[in-house]
Amino acid sequence: MGWCSPILWHDNINLPEDLFSSVCELVSGKVNDKPEYYTTYGKRGLPWKTGDRELLTKFYHDLFRDKMMPDLGLNHRSDWLFHYWIQATNSKSKGHKPHSHFSGMEIISWCHVIKTLPSQKCFHFYKNSDDGGISILNHTYEKQYPEIISGDINAWPSWSLHGVDPPNSDEERIVIAGNIGIESITDGESMMRSTFEDPITTWKIDRNAFS
Ligand SMILES: [Fe+2]
Repeated sequence: MGWCSPILWHDNINLPEDLFSSVCELVSGKVNDKPEYYTTYGKRGLPWKTGDRELLTKFYHDLFRDKMMPDLGLNHRSDWLFHYWIQATNSKSKGHKPHSHFSGMEIISWCHVIKTLPSQKCFHFYKNSDDGGISILNHTYEKQYPEIISGDINAWPSWSLHGVDPPNSDEERIVIAGNIGIESITDGESMMRSTFEDPITTWKIDRNAFS
């Protein structure tokens, strides 16, 4: 059996043209200024055109509510929330080292490829492999590259290790990435509720919550 990708949900959908332009404008000219890659992670007060940030948030909210969460059977039995950021790389970037997004509440991480590079796969996952060549905490891993084209939005478990190779092109590779976290989830019998007080996430499990 070949490699089993951690991707658990996929769609291909382009941003509306005006939002696509707005994201490209936001990133334009900034990638070269950053030694690793450009990111809006943790940044406030970005120069969005009026209303665009709200439209982008609504775009993803509706996509998750109407497609991703129903496909995964998570609507109506979980209280979920999400956040996102924009990232961009080009040949001046060092790429993005192995990392994962899980810190207690996140169950799904996702990446919407707004603009990819036609001739290079950059994004990869890591699998344990004795001859993988990538060393993390004294154990070896191997990079695995899923096929990705512009418009692809992929979701995977937040614990999954992934990274991005530096592009070999001056063109910008632009993505919007994010996490979905859950505040509560039930299977119809038990109810699990989370509280987050940085840096501690606590889960309270109420067994037989409905009897
Ligand atoms: Fe990531």
